[in-house]
Amino acid sequence: MQPIHVLKQQSPVEGWDQQDPEEAFTLPSRYFFDDTLFKAERDNIFMHAWHVAGHVNEFAEPGQYVVVDLFDQSVVIAKNRQGEIRAFHNVCQHRGNRLLENRRGTTGGVVRCAYHSWCYEMDGSLRGAPRCDRMKNFDLQQFNIPQLRTEEMGGFIYFNFDAEAPSLRELFPGADAEMRRVFPNLDQMRLIDEQDVIVPANWKVIMDNSIEGYHFKLSGPCHIDLAKLIDFKGYALTKRDKWWTYIAPANLSMNEAYGVKLREDLNPDECFFNIGMWPNNTFYTFPFSEFLGSFMMIPLDAERSLLRFGYYSANPETAEVSKACMKWMNEDLGPEDIALNISVQKGLHSLGYDQGRYMIDPQRSNESEHLVHHFHRLVFNGIHGERAR
Ligand code: FES
Ligand SMILES: [Fe+2]
Repeated sequence: MQPIHVLKQQSPVEGWDQQDPEEAFTLPSRYFFDDTLFKAERDNIFMHAWHVAGHVNEFAEPGQYVVVDLFDQSVVIAKNRQGEIRAFHNVCQHRGNRLLENRRGTTGGVVRCAYHSWCYEMDGSLRGAPRCDRMKNFDLQQFNIPQLRTEEMGGFIYFNFDAEAPSLRELFPGADAEMRRVFPNLDQMRLIDEQDVIVPANWKVIMDNSIEGYHFKLSGPCHIDLAKLIDFKGYALTKRDKWWTYIAPANLSMNEAYGVKLREDLNPDECFFNIGMWPNNTFYTFPFSEFLGSFMMIPLDAERSLLRFGYYSANPETAEVSKACMKWMNEDLGPEDIALNISVQKGLHSLGYDQGRYMIDPQRSNESEHLVHHFHRLVFNGIHGERAR
């Protein structure tokens, strides 16, 4: 008889994606910690996917930039002097020094390498290199930093390492309109806060947790509070091909939320809204708050992820209920989910577990794990087959 840990490493995946979703077994546990599978996700999924750089208003002025690190890569997204938003690799073309260390900032229009002062425009083109006039055949243009593709959708700028990747609108048809329906003032939004949290769990463990409502009434006290703030029966989790939404009307009979008294004249359209874009970008809002949240699950390695929470608002003054909601997210609901994710990551290593069952209830999307199954199928195909598209 083979030892159980060998069986766990070899559990069959052949035909995994052919299972009837309503009877399907979950992805084998090694998909959540195996380094080889993680590298396949990096190469076949993330290096061909669109990554959020920031809201367009984070690039309002020439020289404004954002740095995004992903695996061992670092990318600068900036507005150049011509008023164009461009993405380029965060690396000097002389001897490879990293150019910008801060997450955000504004340059005077030029970035200077700290090593030998080569200077670049904020689109990566080389403007000057000290003493290059003394060099034989030195052509500045030969040392422009390679650019990456950028696109805008729903008020946010994205970049992609793959020059051939399908456009955002091909991948996520209707997502722009859906975001603008819920956030009519999307273009006026400004970043008000950003929190990074490193969680010792695979990025998919965290995604899985965020795309099902099965655990809402069955896990911790903050989740039960969340279920009360919404019309839980009306909570609908809807899959498209490469994007999905999970939306519930607010429970308008509430007179208090997040410890704050609510106004009498509640907006009848108040809702809990989430929109997810393959593979790891989510935007959301909570009932009774007026901010837009971004929630990115950035993989660091097979068993660690950086959760990046962005908060955006169109109002110059953040309303008290929005502040209370953000605090509740950061200090109450978020930690409750993070504790579950860390616990799952530990459990996945157990020799006593390999594959569970998706709890799919086609009649009740609010309590069903159909989005988890759909997401895993995209991951499976991304790793083993059709390249993240
Ligand atoms: S490495 Fe940047 S100027 Fe030398
Ligand atoms: Fe949760």
